[in-house]
Amino acid sequence: MSNVLRARRRLDLLQVVLFFVAVLLVVVADAGVTSQYRRKLEATVEMPLDADVFRVPPGYNAPQQVRLIRLRQPIDQEGTAMIVSWVTANELGSSTVMYSEASPDPEKMELRAEGTHTRYDYFNYTSGFIHHCTLTNLKHSTKYYYAMGFGHTVRSFCFTTPPMPGPDVPFKFGLIGDLGQTFDSNTTLSHYEANGGDAVLYVGDLSYADNHPLHDNTRWDTWARFVERSAAHQPWVWTAGNHELDLAPELGEHVPFKPFAHRYPTPFWYSVRVASAHVVVLASYSAYGKYTAQWEWLRAELARVDRAATPWLIVLVHSPWYSSNGYHYMEGETMRVQFERWIVAAKADLVVAGHVHAYERSHRVSNVAYDIINARCTPVRTRDAPVYVTVGDGGNIEGIADNFTQPQPSYSAFREASFGHATLEIRNRTHAYYAWHRNQDGAKVVADGVWLTNRYWMPTDDDIN
Ligand SMILES: *[C@@H]1O[C@H](CO)[C@@H](O)[C@H](O)[C@H]1NC(C)=O
Ligand SMILES: *[C@@H]1O[C@H](CO)[C@@H](O)[C@H](O)[C@H]1NC(C)=O
Ligand SMILES: *[C@@H]1O[C@H](CO)[C@@H](O)[C@H](O)[C@H]1NC(C)=O
Ligand SMILES: *[C@@H]1O[C@H](CO)[C@@H](O)[C@H](O)[C@H]1NC(C)=O
Ligand SMILES: [Fe+2]
Repeated sequence: MSNVLRARRRLDLLQVVLFFVAVLLVVVADAGVTSQYRRKLEATVEMPLDADVFRVPPGYNAPQQVRLIRLRQPIDQEGTAMIVSWVTANELGSSTVMYSEASPDPEKMELRAEGTHTRYDYFNYTSGFIHHCTLTNLKHSTKYYYAMGFGHTVRSFCFTTPPMPGPDVPFKFGLIGDLGQTFDSNTTLSHYEANGGDAVLYVGDLSYADNHPLHDNTRWDTWARFVERSAAHQPWVWTAGNHELDLAPELGEHVPFKPFAHRYPTPFWYSVRVASAHVVVLASYSAYGKYTAQWEWLRAELARVDRAATPWLIVLVHSPWYSSNGYHYMEGETMRVQFERWIVAAKADLVVAGHVHAYERSHRVSNVAYDIINARCTPVRTRDAPVYVTVGDGGNIEGIADNFTQPQPSYSAFREASFGHATLEIRNRTHAYYAWHRNQDGAKVVADGVWLTNRYWMPTDDDIN
């Protein structure tokens, strides 16, 4: 080998070493965290059909799968109505709900609402009788007892209505996605309950019934029995995910969202006002291109948001716009391109997504400068842009998404392949504490937390870790 060649090789080696040093410096300077926490490797196992959480309540035709659902704006602008939904399995029974501020005794409840019922077939499955009953003219911040099942087996529950919307009204949300019904799902729900939120913002993918042969719809029933312990006592705000589609032409099932739509009488895109928050729910699997109904609605809705009255603007979507995980990589991109501009202009505070079965939080970034000829197509730090979080880490049967892209992009502040849930604790118009809790820790442990300052009232303040 000639001296010249040998010298050139040494030079190549030097260049390689310098390259890695440079990469290291860039990574350190960027300071995004890919958490080194490694969950112990274990199968994500669905709870068996005879698990305690799936037990059918005793008594003939007993109401089961009881849940509260918020009505959308503008039908229920202020949160003084609530839909109660439940299923009876033996026969239709009564769709009446009796309720009361004063008495937990169903015999003495003085208020009454009449509901409706529906049922559906899915391949060879026939659902129970699904009841939906709307309670109206509720007072704010008031505890109500309610009961149903009259004529057969009566069950009663209670809930507290949300406070009157106002700029400084404190409220604590749970942020849960892609829950499913495994032992991990049960840990997630238990930890959320221990952390004590007032309502859940649920970012889609509920039961994962479609992962079973014939989309076994009994898994929609078991899931709803499983979450009843929370959902019958506080509203969950529902977002439709891909596992709600249940499209199966091979089974003769051509209507998208059939089981979900029968069971959860909620629109696919809508908004609710809760305390000091205006929550906008988007539908990743409904059309959102220009001139579509969702596009028209969102444009009008963002103009209706009154940040003086409800300072916190929160957007829920199933497929994330900012996720650096290899799983479902860039699936949310077309919706981001369509809507990010509006969301940034509206100074939204937080965009919550699921779909990817891991946890991630972004810095405040935007990527709206691109106009096809200027080539400016990279996310840039933007003080008044929202924070994006992905909480598709509820713990479903598909397991963890542990394939993050490398290196961690600069917009990503924290990411970890573990199951868990998040909470958003709004204190007043300017401050809210966001926290993520991994399932391997005690419920109260904060694995990733940040004080968010409101983008309307404090648009130039940075968040504090
Ligand atoms: C689920 O969690 C609840 C509350 O922590 C517990 O009582 C129940 O036994 C758990 N069920 C299963 C199947 O793990
Ligand atoms: C539906 O069909 C499957 C497969 O043939 C069978 O295992 C299941 O028991 C059937 N379910 C009902 C409710 O008939
Ligand atoms: C991991 O993600 C990358 C994209 O970042 C993809 O190319 C690769 O196929 C993924 N690997 C697995 C095992 O899914
Ligand atoms: C809002 O809450 C934060 C955090 O608790 C507190 O530091 C701040 O002083 C509060 N602002 C007002 C106006 O009360
Ligand atoms: Fe999903």
